[in-house]
Amino acid sequence: MKKPTRLGTPLSSSATKVMLLGSGELGKEVIIALQRLGVEVIAVDRYENAPGHQVAHRAHVINMTDGAALAALIEQEKPDLIVPEIEAIATETLVKLEEAGLARVIPTARAAWLTMNREGIRRLAGETLGLATSPYRFADSLEELKAAIDQIGYPCVIKPVMSSSGKGQSKIDGPDEIESAWNYAAAGGRVDAGRVIVEGFIDFDYEITLLTVRSLNENGDTVTSFCDPIGHVQVKGDYVESWQPHPMPGAALEKARDIARKVTENLGGLGLFGVELFVKGDMVWFSEVSPRPHDTGMVTMVSQVQSEFELHAKAILGLPVNTALRTPGASAVIYGQHEARGIAFDGVAEALRIPGAEIRLFGKPESFARRRMGVALASADNVETARIRAKQAAAKVKPVIPE
Ligand SMILES: Nc1ncnc2c1ncn2[C@@H]1O[C@H](COP(=O)(O)OP(=O)(O)OP(=O)(O)O)[C@@H](O)[C@H]1O
Ligand SMILES: [Mg+2]
Repeated sequence: MKKPTRLGTPLSSSATKVMLLGSGELGKEVIIALQRLGVEVIAVDRYENAPGHQVAHRAHVINMTDGAALAALIEQEKPDLIVPEIEAIATETLVKLEEAGLARVIPTARAAWLTMNREGIRRLAGETLGLATSPYRFADSLEELKAAIDQIGYPCVIKPVMSSSGKGQSKIDGPDEIESAWNYAAAGGRVDAGRVIVEGFIDFDYEITLLTVRSLNENGDTVTSFCDPIGHVQVKGDYVESWQPHPMPGAALEKARDIARKVTENLGGLGLFGVELFVKGDMVWFSEVSPRPHDTGMVTMVSQVQSEFELHAKAILGLPVNTALRTPGASAVIYGQHEARGIAFDGVAEALRIPGAEIRLFGKPESFARRRMGVALASADNVETARIRAKQAAAKVKPVIPE
């Protein structure tokens, strides 16, 4: 997109139209950022009243892994940009539509396709780009898995090639755990239930998300900029807490940026990426990358001048971005705790009395015990205090089933 950005009026023939594929809590914030620029937003998800549906101009409910349904909706809406917000999409359809000039996918259809499958992105990073990763093998059966683990050793991590948020993932320490890990992966995988990756376990000191933005400069050239590293804690492969900035030795930060630059340059296009990295001393391993805002990056809603959502919205429209930190900050997840529709939240006022605290409730129609229903954010003059405040604020919010 070398021509200057022109933004239209929503719901008119000049409208700049963006379609979100996936309209969860991350998509909702991208939509809000787009709305502020007068973009017409079409929110798509697999269920009604998804968080992003509630703030968009139009909402659609389709099965986004159904290529024909996806193509029909794109044909009907004719968006200028298609923004995948989740991995579980018929990405081959997007590749075909993009090749035929019928759609522009963010950052590129190929990036969405490669990153939805651990095999695609891992082979790109480890084999094509030669980046440091955990040792890995792929397997299609229990027998192949055993043979793969003979090569990788223990402890190791077994994951379905298509899954997210830690679903179907287990760390194992010995051969008697292989079969249950295989069965768990088969049950937790998204599409192709039969294929897994086995990775050597990296005994890292800490892990970070390096938010990396590809945007246009005043000459129309693509430039790469980095946010400060985000530290996070994962429980069973799902993020529970994050903070920014995470302190890093200069040499490790340089390696992290080098890896992030190489991966995102290869994936191409415009937008924000969440590059997940493991760090031990000065050593850095590439883990995976989201070609879109990252859940651990919700902290940027308090810690940065422009949140990751605003950065994504601006970058995809060809607008300049500012990745500067505003203040140290932290986030802590608020889980549903109940299995029910239409739950309520007590304690929000108490949470907001904590200095520097903010609360986001996503408005998801249905709660599950471990479903992320909201997030507490907090700023402070240092990360340690911000983390304490965010966790305190999250703990004050009490999901309840109204009588
Ligand atoms: N090889 C490994 N060595 C050590 N820890 C690992 C390894 N693989 C995964 N983990 C841990 O499990 C977490 C989740 O793994 P990964 O990011 O691959 O799964 P995911 O399902 O894509 O999660 P998400 O969608 O939340 O990013 C990592 O952030 C890390 O804490
Ligand atoms: Mg991950």
